Amino acid sequence: MTWPTLQALEERLSAFYLKRCQTIADLRRMAHWRVPAPMFHYMDGAAEDEITYRRNSSDFDHLEFLPRNLVDISEIDPSTTVMGQRIEFPVVLAPTGMSRLFHWEGERAVARAAARAGTVYSLSAVGTHSIEEVAACNAGPKWFQIYVFKDRGLVSEFIQRCRAAQYHALCLTIDLPITGKRERDFRTGMTLPPTFTLRSWLDFVLHPVWSATHVTSAPFSLANVAHRVQTVDSDNVETLMSYIGSQFDRTVTWDDAAAMVQEWGGPFAVKGILTVDDAKRAVDIGATAIIVSNHGGRQLDHCPTPIDVLPEIVAAVGDRAEVILDGGVRRGTDVLKALALGARACMTGRCYLYGLGAGGEAGVDKALQILREEIARDMALLGTRNVKEITGSYVRRRRGL
Ligand code: GLV
Repeated sequence: MTWPTLQALEERLSAFYLKRCQTIADLRRMAHWRVPAPMFHYMDGAAEDEITYRRNSSDFDHLEFLPRNLVDISEIDPSTTVMGQRIEFPVVLAPTGMSRLFHWEGERAVARAAARAGTVYSLSAVGTHSIEEVAACNAGPKWFQIYVFKDRGLVSEFIQRCRAAQYHALCLTIDLPITGKRERDFRTGMTLPPTFTLRSWLDFVLHPVWSATHVTSAPFSLANVAHRVQTVDSDNVETLMSYIGSQFDRTVTWDDAAAMVQEWGGPFAVKGILTVDDAKRAVDIGATAIIVSNHGGRQLDHCPTPIDVLPEIVAAVGDRAEVILDGGVRRGTDVLKALALGARACMTGRCYLYGLGAGGEAGVDKALQILREEIARDMALLGTRNVKEITGSYVRRRRGL
């Protein structure tokens, strides 16, 4: 008799848990239950008082729909294109760092699920699987998220590797010259380098499935940068995280971004735009997409929310670049509101990370299925059959707000 592996048992357990999830909020609760607190709060938490983080979602509630009825909705088509690539529904998977913190399969699980769902996966520069490993398991459209690191040689190397591995676009994140003050991480010890407390270690013991699958799978690594760390201890997580911490460059300007657009020479998104000024500068240096984002509320607290500033940014640059909204999306209705206000598509990080934490690759499948089904159902209820029909005449600000 052969015994199922630990990983196979974990898959069965995930299937059991995922059956109980109907919404992204359910996946979040399940991830909270299954992932040790330091990792869960790193994914779920945001900067300082988390005002912006909460508003990112609650500002969608300020809008309401104006549905049209008695429309033939027998065919609903939520597909669209982003930077020239067809996607089956208007949601792109945002870059998020270190996905193996949430499930032992990490970025590979997410990339496979994105390809299956027919949408874009964006790999983070601080991923735990490499550019090439992700390309090997995702034949669909892929973007690579990049920073202008101090080590400009590494940046050029990333560009060459992305070209060789046929990534479709680069996505430059511009809102992280230093990291925001994420206070949950200080409490749990998820700092750079980690400073786990007794309570954190107890949490690993209380999550034996997470801990056992991690201990028995390949060692954790920041796969894209590990080879640049020139020490005898280059596999050490703390060393790698300190290296990343030291790479954020406070001197980066639009000239560096412009040089990167030139060096890449292909579709290029600038992520972290909240003002018309920055949107215009991004388009002026040749960006093909603008990602309206406050980094999920993880950087500067009390800045505007993407759904709030979206209309003015679309009005300013929407005829010269695609505008993508990133931040606060938890429901299909959020995506439809953004589309009505002129977004080409939405990005989400936490929705799929909750799925990953709740149930690995099947959990990411579930998150994407929930969003896709909500989008299609709500398009029908709105009386719109394809994304082109979703215009500003279908939403308004709630009276009194
Ligand atoms: C990295 O981009 C993070 O938000 O943790």
